[in-house]
Amino acid sequence: MPGHGGGKGLGDMALQQMAQLDVTEVPGLGDLHVLEGIMEEARMLLADAYGAKQSLFMVNGASSGIHTMFMSLRPGSRVLVPRNAHRSFYAGTVLSGVEPVYIPGQISSEYGLCMSVNSHDIMDLLKTHPDIETLFLTSPNYLGVSCDLKEICSQVRKINRKIAVFVDEAHGGHFPFHPDYPITALEAGADAVVNGLHKTLPVLNQGACLHGQDEEYFHRQMVPAWSMLTTSSPSYPILASMDLARSFMMLEGEYQLEKALELSRLYKGKINTIKGLLVLTEEDLINWPGATELDPLKLWIDLSGVSLNGMQMASILREEHAVQVEMFGANHILAMMSMFHQLEDWELFYRALGEIARQYPGGRAQQQPILPAPEPQVVLIPRKAYFSKSIEVKLADCLGKVAAEMVAPYPPGIPCLLPGELISHDIYEYLLYLIKQPISLHGPGDNSLSKIRIIEP
Ligand SMILES: Cc1ncc(COP(=O)(O)O)c(C=O)c1O
Repeated sequence: MPGHGGGKGLGDMALQQMAQLDVTEVPGLGDLHVLEGIMEEARMLLADAYGAKQSLFMVNGASSGIHTMFMSLRPGSRVLVPRNAHRSFYAGTVLSGVEPVYIPGQISSEYGLCMSVNSHDIMDLLKTHPDIETLFLTSPNYLGVSCDLKEICSQVRKINRKIAVFVDEAHGGHFPFHPDYPITALEAGADAVVNGLHKTLPVLNQGACLHGQDEEYFHRQMVPAWSMLTTSSPSYPILASMDLARSFMMLEGEYQLEKALELSRLYKGKINTIKGLLVLTEEDLINWPGATELDPLKLWIDLSGVSLNGMQMASILREEHAVQVEMFGANHILAMMSMFHQLEDWELFYRALGEIARQYPGGRAQQQPILPAPEPQVVLIPRKAYFSKSIEVKLADCLGKVAAEMVAPYPPGIPCLLPGELISHDIYEYLLYLIKQPISLHGPGDNSLSKIRIIEP
């Protein structure tokens, strides 16, 4: 194995070349599941680079690190989770059988997006639910906004019981390598952290890692969960790319990140001089309690002074300027730069924005962001809901029933319903409101929402 015979069986030259590296556990190459030899050495070097006591390589993205975190928890235990967490948390709750308690997000009425969570809400919830054993947070979020992890960790440590702080830092794998980038979750005091290394470092897709600070817990609870969830045929190219990236970042990371930081400062300033456009800067975070720092490589650009919505701007950038943005919102686009974007790449993006802004000057009414959803009410824990029988009913008949599918308006993609949650009067009214909005819905089998799947009463 693999059956491509060192690439010979692959019809395409490029694939054949890639396949040269696609080897498996032959002598000298170690075994990812056996913590010894070269794999162990690479693992310890990774931990060192991130300032972690222990680390594990993931070959199925940050998602699998989040699944591992959840699978290390006690079934039935309660976990505090931000409602806007990446959907992998939900799979984690189904796999492990934990009960989520949701932290309200600081939703910006201007952007319709959840910018952060704040420490007061977290402390209040930890006090009202004295049985919560774990706090799961996302920082930075997709937009590059970090929450005040240092404050949150310090407040949590003052509570008179053990609460583990787990952080999805999928978008912050580059933070440890330059002092002027946001503080890392481990520095802030988190117990376990996931980095989606492929997102911000020179790493092949799916490369990610999980760090743990409590060695006993890590070996007893996390390693078995990780091994159970990880393929027995891990991709060596992905593993090698993570090891090389770790070495590259140790040697050159600070220099490369400094260059990127300077380009970011220069071009954020330049983009802000384009009439009709506004880039989110760290100074703007003052408007969101709990939001503290901003990744300089994420550019969240407000389009309210041009007559285009986010989707239109993203499509013109792609079709006419060969620029692919990461994401768009109602009146925004999110551009994501890397350490490897050079001056000419930033310049191209800036010029494209300027040209489009001149072609589409402001004046048209902007698209209203989606209103935040009412508070969710968990009736069945996600695992129970997942394994329950369900039926499809007309939307008009779902009031007071328990949802069996997710409904998440996109953008911003924050679910208003998850399986196991009550379709209360407020939620029902919200679903009726969503149907009338010019957005797509993620989750429901029937996208028009004329029918919805509920747990069989
Ligand atoms: C905040 C966050 N966490 C986790 C993930 C999952 O990452 P991956 O695609 O590496 O599984 C994503 C993916 O976009 C994400 O945005």
